[in-house]
Amino acid sequence: MAPFGQRAREHPRGIVDLSVGTPVDPTPEFIQEVLRESTNAPGYPLTAGTPDLRQAIRDWAINRLGASGEFDVLPVIGSKELVAWLPTLLEASSVLYPEIAYPTYSVGAIIGSAVGTAVAVDPSTWPEADLAWINSPSNPTGRVHTEAEMVSVINWARRSGSIVASDECYLDFGHGVEPLSILSLTGGNNENIIAVHSLSKRSSMAGYRAGFIIGDSKVIAKLREVRKHAGMMVPLPIQMAMIAALSDDVHVAEQRDRYNSRRERLRPALELAGFEVEESRAGLYIWCTRHEKDLVSIAWLAELGILATPGHFYGPKGDHHIRVAMTATDEKIDEAAARLFSTSGRQ
Ligand SMILES: Cc1ncc(COP(=O)(O)O)c(C=O)c1O
Repeated sequence: MAPFGQRAREHPRGIVDLSVGTPVDPTPEFIQEVLRESTNAPGYPLTAGTPDLRQAIRDWAINRLGASGEFDVLPVIGSKELVAWLPTLLEASSVLYPEIAYPTYSVGAIIGSAVGTAVAVDPSTWPEADLAWINSPSNPTGRVHTEAEMVSVINWARRSGSIVASDECYLDFGHGVEPLSILSLTGGNNENIIAVHSLSKRSSMAGYRAGFIIGDSKVIAKLREVRKHAGMMVPLPIQMAMIAALSDDVHVAEQRDRYNSRRERLRPALELAGFEVEESRAGLYIWCTRHEKDLVSIAWLAELGILATPGHFYGPKGDHHIRVAMTATDEKIDEAAARLFSTSGRQ
């Protein structure tokens, strides 16, 4: 990406970097406040999470996700480490992940010396494996699983006895669609199912490193045990801030509106510049194509001072698409839209 970044930085009005999915809106003040008040932490934090945090995650899982039946919860140090280490911690020797996906699923298979296989959405086409990842809403495509697709993944886990990890870190950011948690569809039988969540995007807390998993108690007990001995514990002040973040939904709705309004400004500008937008119904990204090699589109955008991500970063099938992130200020998004509109003579 370096030459494209360089080219974009040379634009007279500066670079608009839409290539990194890192939140830019401030962490809500009430969460910062709790962090500031929680700095006295002389003892080791619990790997399992404090009783209050465990209760907050449980309540949120029931009330927000629609979880039912028997399940356990476990905080993690942001969900990326969990994604990267899950195959190792579960001693999985084969791992499936979506054919266009967040690259850390395949990195996790490599770290765990497991065989990683990219698969299509429909589980009837999947080979046998110890662990399968799904990701709805998807990074990078913004695709949302239908209820029927989700149920067929649950049935695959039941038939095969394999574990399904559902990465739901963009669940709160639907745009005219209500993404479903896998836990709302298990009918209370959560065997072999875990849902992976993060406060990075939901509450603009990426710098805190705050995530958690919810699901099959046996799977979570195994993870907790290994993580305890490996020192994988969430710092106590962060655990306190997580409780505060989970207690409030208003800031999440506000953040969703912010991303959706950025999408509404950017999407028509990309379309006018000749991009066809696909999926992109949820999450933080616009997935689009001009039916040319991704790097040709990336180079064209770099001339406008706009940096986006080539689709092949997410798998070879993405090599005619680009990912445009909405994790930039309103001002920057408007600037990008104006530059795109100007290519078609519109301001
Ligand atoms: C699909 C997906 N899963 C997990 C993560 C990791 O997020 P975090 O480690 O901040 O919780 C990301 C980050 O961008 C992501 O896109």
